[in-house]
Amino acid sequence: MRAQSSPKATVPLAWLELPRLPLKSRQVRICVAAVGVNPVDWKMRAFEFLGIAQRVLGPSGPLVVGIDVAGTITEVGSAVTEFAVGDRVVGGTDFSKCERGSYAEEAIVTVDNCAKLPDEVPFDVAGALPVAGATAWMALYEHGRLRERESPRVLILGAAGGVGHLAVQLASRVGAFAVGVCSTRNVAFVESLGGKAVDYSRGDVSEAAKALGPFDVVLDCVGSDHYSRSFCRGLLAEDGVHVLVVPRGPDLPFLAFPGNTRTVLGRASRERLEGLLAAVVCGELKVHIAERIPLGEAERAHDLSRGGKVVGKLVLVN
Ligand SMILES: NC(=O)c1ccc[n+]([C@@H]2O[C@H](COP(=O)([O-])OP(=O)(O)OC[C@H]3O[C@@H](n4cnc5c(N)ncnc54)[C@H](OP(=O)(O)O)[C@@H]3O)[C@@H](O)[C@H]2O)c1
Repeated sequence: MRAQSSPKATVPLAWLELPRLPLKSRQVRICVAAVGVNPVDWKMRAFEFLGIAQRVLGPSGPLVVGIDVAGTITEVGSAVTEFAVGDRVVGGTDFSKCERGSYAEEAIVTVDNCAKLPDEVPFDVAGALPVAGATAWMALYEHGRLRERESPRVLILGAAGGVGHLAVQLASRVGAFAVGVCSTRNVAFVESLGGKAVDYSRGDVSEAAKALGPFDVVLDCVGSDHYSRSFCRGLLAEDGVHVLVVPRGPDLPFLAFPGNTRTVLGRASRERLEGLLAAVVCGELKVHIAERIPLGEAERAHDLSRGGKVVGKLVLVN
């Protein structure tokens, strides 16, 4: 499914028959079964930073949106030894490698961004993992070095969303005390994931957060327009890390001299996907699927995601 060119800021989605691209030696072709919806999918349709980057770095021709993909391999490139036709897999497309997006009947993915699915993991659960799961994984385990800390404390801003609800669980499974900031309606949800909820609808969260800190990692999945950098950094323990997943324009000069603030670009490497799948199999990570939506109704899914109130993940199914 491609975004049609239009002078409007956000271009509409339309089905289009595109010629099949040949595989490169380290790519696989996947018959798409499920695709997780990420805010980047609709952000890319606008002529803003991501949309422009896609058009400059991405494949020529129409923009095909979508990164997450789960499905069955139908063809492997000449140098692929890790996968075979018929394998159930999950992965992420990468426009910077000139790959088209995954809102399609079939998608092409580089093998390094792809992992085999254990039998017990269904396509819809797997399809929700690549961007959101890899982002939470990188933020907590790589930038935040959570697995190397003793009795760590983590604050997650935006704990009920796609990235946040996985982050609460990834923190809890390594013994961290996870505090999740959410609205009243999501307090029970965040607590069901193993987190201690802080309800921002009741007013300023700083008092409640301060009482539960200081934190080894403050993971901001909302943005510095809601939670300022100084607020987040003020809650850090010594040697703590503030990880920003939504850098805004005013954050960019600051990020050139990061100090204890890092930004993360979630990338679904095989190692991260295998780690996430192992956590799913042993019951430590549960993907909350808010709704399964037919791929043909992707525009409705984007409207829901743009609304900023999705709990867990939306998944498109073919
Ligand atoms: N850098 C990267 O690689 C990367 C990767 C993934 C995502 N992102 C970005 O990160 C952001 C989050 O992504 P996502 O997939 O998690 O989004 P999402 O699923 O759409 O997040 C929705 C959630 O945000 C919560 N929320 C909204 N306002 C809030 C506030 N003021 N305080 C606390 N929670 C609030 C809502 O919960 P309540 O109803 O409880 O408020 C809702 O459940 C997006 O901007 C996305 O583009 C970046």
